[in-house]
Amino acid sequence: MLFGIVRSEAGEFPVIDGITRLLIDELRAPLVDLLRRGRPRDALKVALDVPFYDRGGSAINFATRLVYPRGAGVARWCADRVKRHVYRILTDSTASFTDTVRRLWSPRWAEWQINRFAMPTFLPQFALATLTMSDSPVLDFGSGVGHGTFLLSRESPSRLVCADYSFSSLYLARKYFVPDAEFVCLDGDFPLPFASGYFGTVYSSDTLHCLDSKVLLANEFKRVLQSSGRIVLPHLHNAKSSVRFGKSLSARGYASLFEGLRHRIVPEEEVVRDLVDHGVLDLDRTYAAAALDKAVNGFCLVAAYDAGVLRRYTGLWEHRLSRLQAPMLNPIYEVKRNGKECAVTRRRLLNPGPALPDTDVLPDSAVIPLEDMNGQALRRLAAADPVCYGELVRKLIVVDGPARFG
Ligand SMILES: C[S@@+](CC[C@H](N)C(=O)[O-])C[C@H]1O[C@@H](n2cnc3c(N)ncnc32)[C@H](O)[C@@H]1O
Repeated sequence: MLFGIVRSEAGEFPVIDGITRLLIDELRAPLVDLLRRGRPRDALKVALDVPFYDRGGSAINFATRLVYPRGAGVARWCADRVKRHVYRILTDSTASFTDTVRRLWSPRWAEWQINRFAMPTFLPQFALATLTMSDSPVLDFGSGVGHGTFLLSRESPSRLVCADYSFSSLYLARKYFVPDAEFVCLDGDFPLPFASGYFGTVYSSDTLHCLDSKVLLANEFKRVLQSSGRIVLPHLHNAKSSVRFGKSLSARGYASLFEGLRHRIVPEEEVVRDLVDHGVLDLDRTYAAAALDKAVNGFCLVAAYDAGVLRRYTGLWEHRLSRLQAPMLNPIYEVKRNGKECAVTRRRLLNPGPALPDTDVLPDSAVIPLEDMNGQALRRLAAADPVCYGELVRKLIVVDGPARFG
């Protein structure tokens, strides 16, 4: 269903542009009302939030939620202008993802989105996404605009559900990254709206530390998981590290959330090093509490009822190559064409986050024996020189890319 109203004993909720909005807030009744009056485009305009990850964005969204249902006045006029601006940009059918996020107000947020595939905090996802069970439904909780979900989609799950409380992020995920997924706008500080034992994989990257009700959410992850399934959590911030974000916990704290399941917590540095140096994800190895406390960049956590999930996985680069459908130059690189070669140089970011691992992944610069770096040229290279192409993929100079990225 693209637009409509879902009714249950819990009440009525709007479905807007394919996104089921289950937030219980000031906008719920006006949105249902707009749909009932046959004004789906107005409902979309009202549902779109300002997709920022900072306090300014949260404040604007909070204020617009409060003033919107309360009729006229200057505040309502301002809220209207904000919504119209976001609506115009997000619904532009001709714009690429990169153009769209650049036209919104926050350069830092745009930079984060455009360069997500090169961010150190994203790298563990290249290893952990491979744990997806391909024959059962996958939940990506806190999916954001869908970079990680895009990797999950390449593992061909039977069904892919994105959940996030930012409606605009889900809108972008649907428009650019995973159009065939299903989308639920919800707040994870409340119980999840999914049947028990439904998902084979519950995946959530860089999100659990944002929530207040971690015990509730972890219990919900366990409830909606199949008995043969796995919970996969790349990039959890470490409360004992100097690099902090959100409301992070220590390794012990995260472990206590998943009591009753077998689990492994691995320092993120180790996950990334194993991946880039050896193409391995080692969930067989255990770490002492002291080593986990020292994990500056945080952890990855995998939990399952079946201890067999916690083993060593090899051949991850071969796997990634076999799943790669649409090669593109990693957006963090600038390219200069020079006859039969291209020189690529990594851009400096306004907000680089943790340092890149001390390996040859994402080098500062490289010279590539191609006249152009577009998808066609990269595909030709894959056929003509698979070793060179494989190295570009392993170094993340080339990544899989959604169709209208940039
Ligand atoms: C740092 S982003 C991570 C996005 C994506 N998973 C990735 O790794 O690129 C965190 C995401 O969690 C979402 N989020 C935070 N708190 C949430 C909550 N209580 N309920 C649902 N989503 C939440 C945010 O909207 C945001 O999209």
